[in-house]
Amino acid sequence: MPSTIVLITGANSGVGFATAKVIACASEVFHVIMASRSLEKAKSAMSEIEAAGIKGLLSTVQLDVTDERSIEQAVTLINQNFGRLDVLVNNAAVGSRDSDLKTRFQLCMDTNVIGPAVVSAAFRPLLLKSQKPYSIYVSSGIGSLARVSDPTSITYRGIPNGEAYSASKAALNMIALQESIVFSSTALKVFVVCPGFVRSNLCGPSEEARCGWGKAGDPQVSGELILSVIQGERDVDAGQFVYIDGVYPW
Ligand SMILES: NC(=O)c1ccc[n+]([C@@H]2O[C@H](COP(=O)([O-])OP(=O)(O)OC[C@H]3O[C@@H](n4cnc5c(N)ncnc54)[C@H](OP(=O)(O)O)[C@@H]3O)[C@@H](O)[C@H]2O)c1
Repeated sequence: MPSTIVLITGANSGVGFATAKVIACASEVFHVIMASRSLEKAKSAMSEIEAAGIKGLLSTVQLDVTDERSIEQAVTLINQNFGRLDVLVNNAAVGSRDSDLKTRFQLCMDTNVIGPAVVSAAFRPLLLKSQKPYSIYVSSGIGSLARVSDPTSITYRGIPNGEAYSASKAALNMIALQESIVFSSTALKVFVVCPGFVRSNLCGPSEEARCGWGKAGDPQVSGELILSVIQGERDVDAGQFVYIDGVYPW
C-alpha cells in the first residue's frame, strides 16, 4: 500500500514524465499522480511508464495550471481519494520565445509564475496534512540572478527573446523562497530544483530542439535528483536552490 502520494504537474513529457517514471520505478511506497492539461496525454504517458514495469502506483488527473477550475477539481479529487498530499512537484512550464514581447511575457508569467503560485496555494492544505510534506518547484539556472550576472557562468549570455522565461523562473524562485519562510514553523520542506539541461519539448517540437542541438542530457537524471529530494537525501538544503552537484546562489 503506497504511503507517499506525489503529484507532478506537466507530467506527460520531458522532466515531468521522467520524474514520474523514476519515482514510480523506485519503490512500492510511491503513488505518483501524473497531472497534465490533457487527460489523454497523461493516460498515454502513464501507459508508457507502466509498460516499462513499475514498483509503485500511477494515476492521472487533468490539471491546467492556468485554469483555476481545473486546479480546484484536481484538489477535490485528490482530497476525496487520499485526504492529503505528501509531495507537490510544480514542474509544468512553457519556454515561450514568441516574437511579440507582451505575448511571451503573458505566456511565461501565466504558466510559470501565477500557475505554480495558485497550484501551491490550492494544494497547501492537503500538503500540510502530510507528516513529511515536500513542495518542489522546478526552476532553471537561468532564473538565478547571481549566475546570470556572473561573467564566468555559462548562463552569462543574452538569449534572443529569452528574457520572459528567465524572468519567470526568477519570480518562481521568489515564490518558493516566500513559501519556505512563511511556512518555516510547519513540517513543509520547500525546494527549488534545477533539472539541468535535458531532452524535452521546452525549446520546440523538432527533434533538433528536443535534444538541445545535441547538447541536452537524459531527463532521467532530473528525475533521480527529484527522487533524492523526496527521499530526504537533500534535506540539509531545504529552502534552497538545488542542482545535482550542490546549491545555486539565488
Ligand atoms: N529541459 C530542460 O533542459 C530544462 C532546463 C531547466 C529547467 N527546465 C524546467 O523543467 C520543467 C519541465 O519542462 P521540460 O523541459 O520537461 O519541458 P516540456 O517537455 O515542454 O514539459 C513541460 C510540461 O508542462 C506542461 N504544461 C505547459 N503548460 C501547461 C499548463 N498551462 N498547465 C499544465 N501543464 C502545462 C506541458 O504540457 P503539454 O505537453 O500539454 O504542452 C508539459 O507536460 C519546466 O519547469 C522547465 O522550465 C527544463
